[in-house]
Amino acid sequence: MCGIFGAICDGAVSNTLKALKLLEYRGYDSAGIAALRNDKIDVYKTEGRIAALQELMRGVPESDVAIGHTRWATHGSVCTANAHPFLSPDKKFAVVHNGIIENHLQLKRELGNVRFTSQTDSETVAYLLEKYFDGDVMRTLLTVARKLQGSFAIAVLALCERKIYALRSKSPLVVGTSADGVFLCSDVRCISRWASRVAVCPDGSAVEISADGVRIFDFSGAPIQPDFFVPERAEQAAGANGDFMLKEIFEIPHRLRLAKQGYVNGGGLRLSVAEARRFRRVYLIGCGTAHNSGLQAASSARRLLDVDLLPVVASEFIYGDYPVGADALAFLISQSGETADTVRAAERVASLGGVTYAVTNTSESSLAFACKYTANICAGGEYAVASTKAYNCQLMTLALLLSELGVLRGSVTAQSHAELLRNSDAVPDAVAQVLDKSADVARLAEEVARCKAVFFIGRTTDYPTACEGSLKLKEISYIHSEAYPAGELKHGTLALMESDVCVVAVSTDPALKGKTASSVTEVTARGARALSVAPYTFPDATPLVIPQTDPFVAAMVSVVPLQLLAYYTAKRLGRDVDKPRHLAKSVTVE
Ligand code: M6R
Repeated sequence: MCGIFGAICDGAVSNTLKALKLLEYRGYDSAGIAALRNDKIDVYKTEGRIAALQELMRGVPESDVAIGHTRWATHGSVCTANAHPFLSPDKKFAVVHNGIIENHLQLKRELGNVRFTSQTDSETVAYLLEKYFDGDVMRTLLTVARKLQGSFAIAVLALCERKIYALRSKSPLVVGTSADGVFLCSDVRCISRWASRVAVCPDGSAVEISADGVRIFDFSGAPIQPDFFVPERAEQAAGANGDFMLKEIFEIPHRLRLAKQGYVNGGGLRLSVAEARRFRRVYLIGCGTAHNSGLQAASSARRLLDVDLLPVVASEFIYGDYPVGADALAFLISQSGETADTVRAAERVASLGGVTYAVTNTSESSLAFACKYTANICAGGEYAVASTKAYNCQLMTLALLLSELGVLRGSVTAQSHAELLRNSDAVPDAVAQVLDKSADVARLAEEVARCKAVFFIGRTTDYPTACEGSLKLKEISYIHSEAYPAGELKHGTLALMESDVCVVAVSTDPALKGKTASSVTEVTARGARALSVAPYTFPDATPLVIPQTDPFVAAMVSVVPLQLLAYYTAKRLGRDVDKPRHLAKSVTVE
């Protein structure tokens, strides 16, 4: 959600343009760059994607200091005027911002009778820098920082200083250096293309980067020693057909193996027996797909654990008065580790004395820093806005962590846990068998693309899979979709069944096959079309047959046809599958 990049290096403008292309998944409605010249700051910005900015900037002279931004609109509509960077009225400061300045209206009033050029909260920062400038940019920046409320990662160019200044509060920001220059960025994976050493800017910090290196201060002006590490070099290449999403789905078998290895090599759960036995409730907290993985893990592990497993949407958890104390363990699930709602939820758990456990794809993320323990799901960089392989890897990691929690609590035998570890080895091959049928899924997608609504149904452990299938389909195809526990349809939703409605029934538990068969018959009897995803077939549904696996791991397999179905349906409808409308990959505002 908004990406920012800053570079002090030869060719800073073209490097910033390249970085914005890599950050585009964070927001793609408008973009811009500010370049420092000898006697002025030039700003180039436009509505649209980075390709439009590249076009606008064709032939623009280089600079050795530049900042850039790719936007996901929060305040102010999508237009060039609201694109970043913003100049101060005297044109001595240029600002890009990721986050929300919650008190911007009050700050605008304090600024008095000035004319703003945009409807954004972010422009206020440039105006405040001009107003409070006292001859020292860092001192001024700290003055401004203390006035801002909300979340912000801000990068600033100041005329005549060959430096970039920055502020970080809640929104992500990292700095990096290499023999070629000094950089700052919203994303570790992106900056690793330029920097050989990277440091995460602490929450509540002000930063100065220059050819001399990196200086970091807290908001009172006290210096902080940057904690540099060597980042993993990340490749970021779309698949052969130009999409990230399909490539990421096809990586699932490999990534599931890595997720299991990550659990084993990372030392497993790492809780003591005494700690594990102290818990009375275990929260599984996340947003979107990460919430669905919490739902799924809770549903599968419920029979294994003598403790309440409580999946909660992160934004609800923050304000919902959920009981937390020393007897609460919270798994905070997030692919990016930067989802603001999930990070706030972790902070709430920690502040109330609960134990926080990040389950994330990004070990250097804000979430990992906010939590006592971290498990890396090892899904590798995920760039399609629709999360796929991260979901499967979250399920693998959570299944193993929860089973081990059962061992420590005495409700799961060491033998059953060992059996789960063995059974999990079969999952990648089962997923590969589903992927081999992708052409069949693509054919079914032709029909789904003609539907006006699609309902996903499942019972018990299949219901979270239905939720994830529905989320996937709606977010990239824009077809109206909902998920229901299969038995719930007859309590109202059956009224919506007609010929251009499709119902996808997920069923992995042979014991519940008959019940799901009745649900399928109820919808087809009312004219709807039915598809089934199961290791068996139903008389009234077009089948997508999947391999039979251990019920504890079945969801890692049964979701794959639904991920493919969403992909092929969206493609059939000509959607931009990797960058669906109105969305962004990493939602760093509440
Ligand atoms: O990075 P996170 O896992 O915290 O992201 C959470 C959600 O924003 C994310 O899963 C979102 O729902 C995806 N677009 C779903 O495909």
